[in-house]
Amino acid sequence: MKVIETVAILRSVLDSQRSGGASVGFVPTMGYLHAGHVSLIEASVSANDLTVVSIFVNPLQFAVGEDLGSYPVDIAGDQRACEAAGADLVFLPSVEEMYPPDRSTTVTVGGVSEPLEGESRPTHFAGVATAVAKLFSIVGPCRAYFGAKDWQQLAVVRRMTADLSLPVEVVDCPIVREPDGLALSSRNTHLSAEERSQATVLHRSLLAGAALVEAGETNPAKVEEEITRVVATAALATLDYAAAVPADTLVADGALHGEVRLLVAVRFGRCRLIDNHGCRSLIP
Ligand code: PAF
Repeated sequence: MKVIETVAILRSVLDSQRSGGASVGFVPTMGYLHAGHVSLIEASVSANDLTVVSIFVNPLQFAVGEDLGSYPVDIAGDQRACEAAGADLVFLPSVEEMYPPDRSTTVTVGGVSEPLEGESRPTHFAGVATAVAKLFSIVGPCRAYFGAKDWQQLAVVRRMTADLSLPVEVVDCPIVREPDGLALSSRNTHLSAEERSQATVLHRSLLAGAALVEAGETNPAKVEEEITRVVATAALATLDYAAAVPADTLVADGALHGEVRLLVAVRFGRCRLIDNHGCRSLIP
């Protein structure tokens, strides 16, 4: 496995591999890799001739006062995880390599980036879209792997990729959970022991909401109330939002119908966790 730090070298290695007929799989990450990231790398390795993993803690997607300064980092551990999962290349750019000081372009995606995370973190998705657009441009034609845990991010990346006709096939991979249901996240490391044990409430609240939908509840407010009720059973949890929305637009449009996504964001002290779950309404 090779580690590459510059745009020019990564481009030339990938161009020459592609001209020899190799297909490229790409896994963008912010590092501190866990089994969820490993599942993305393995999905890429099994479907492509060459897999590149980027590790870049993207400052643009953190607002002032968010956890950029304390975002966990373990470059040596990440490189070992990439190698063990079968990655061929790791792209490890500096902030200056990604964002030269005279940079003045920001990619903003309308519509699907506006509700939910977009309301709680108004600058977040422009930061994500700018980084991902740049990474897609550097990596070039590829399949790119994203986890469904960041469901709204996935929708934003799909929208941007289609709108800009980027030569990338976006592939989504299932959420990886701890045995007790907590979705894997690099941020779980910030939870105290007590917060960690209560954090299973996110998944439990989503399952309770899904059970209502699958029993025939079509009023999104009732489903959101149920998710909120279950979250409130965890003394250390503060709900940011609970939503029962169409899985594709993420914007309520009357009674729940078709594919529904339940999404929740909860704070435990300084740690903010998100999770989501898909279910199907009895109304087609
Ligand atoms: O999901 C992440 O880790 C980040 O948002 C991403 C896609 C790597 C962009 O910085």
